[in-house]
Amino acid sequence: MDVTIRDDGELSDRVIMISGGSRGLGRALARRYAEEGAAVSLCARSEDDLGEVADHIRAAGGRCLAIPADVSSADDVERWFEATSATFGRVDAVVNNASVLGPLVPVEDHPEDAWRRVMEVNLTGAFLCARAAVPRLRRTAGSLIHVSSGVGDHGRPEWGAYCVSKNGLEALSEMLAGELADDGVRSNAVDPGAMRTEMRAAAYPEEDPGEVPPPYEVTDVFVYLASERSGDVTGQRFRAQEFEPPAG
Ligand SMILES: NC(=O)c1ccc[n+]([C@@H]2O[C@H](COP(=O)([O-])OP(=O)(O)OC[C@H]3O[C@@H](n4cnc5c(N)ncnc54)[C@H](OP(=O)(O)O)[C@@H]3O)[C@@H](O)[C@H]2O)c1
Repeated sequence: MDVTIRDDGELSDRVIMISGGSRGLGRALARRYAEEGAAVSLCARSEDDLGEVADHIRAAGGRCLAIPADVSSADDVERWFEATSATFGRVDAVVNNASVLGPLVPVEDHPEDAWRRVMEVNLTGAFLCARAAVPRLRRTAGSLIHVSSGVGDHGRPEWGAYCVSKNGLEALSEMLAGELADDGVRSNAVDPGAMRTEMRAAAYPEEDPGEVPPPYEVTDVFVYLASERSGDVTGQRFRAQEFEPPAG
């Protein structure tokens, strides 16, 4: 992973937390935010994968904290947030990115344990991170960014708990936007679109990975949502691959 920290990065005073920061989109966001000058705090379950991302960012001169944690555990989430506050002193944005795909099968064939696990990670995990984030984001007029999916705003047949969890995540995002509007904290959802990651390969095994973009190419909207440029934007749903920065 090539990391080049920009001297004039627009997020140089920010602290940004990314769940699932070890692979795929989360790893690309860690790189992009660090390149924009932010301090990044990452969690994922695999310590080795996380450590590798942190090593790359630190070697380039960036600031990165990497905490092995499972977002479906309230204790793990609290430990991640406490370590971040202790290390960097503030939190400006939290990206709810960690997710698992689960089985893509009709409901009658969906194993119960897999259903519960997908909901625990994708939805309860996002709730736990949002709950820990809110008091911290109130102090910085910060930003919650929820990574949804093309199946996050409707029910697609045979997309199982993943589809339902992403619809729930978008509802959570909208609910938080309303609850936090008077506090200056914003909450938005992003459908990143198809990206060249392990999750995409599992969902579309017949696809040539070269046909979809690497996740780093879809990160502009995430920079926008963590920056002052989106200070009055809340309760919205963005499609990362159609994003045009507003003029001005
Ligand atoms: N790839 C696509 O085309 C696509 C399309 C639409 C939406 N999305 C969404 O984009 C986001 C990123 O997807 P991706 O394709 O980058 O997925 P990915 O390659 O499978 O990476 C998932 C990341 O989440 C972490 N993770 C999984 N379970 C976790 C848990 N319980 N606690 C903490 N971290 C956990 C993984 O690390 P560990 O396994 O080490 O925990 C990994 O860092 C997801 O929200 C996904 O739903 C992806």
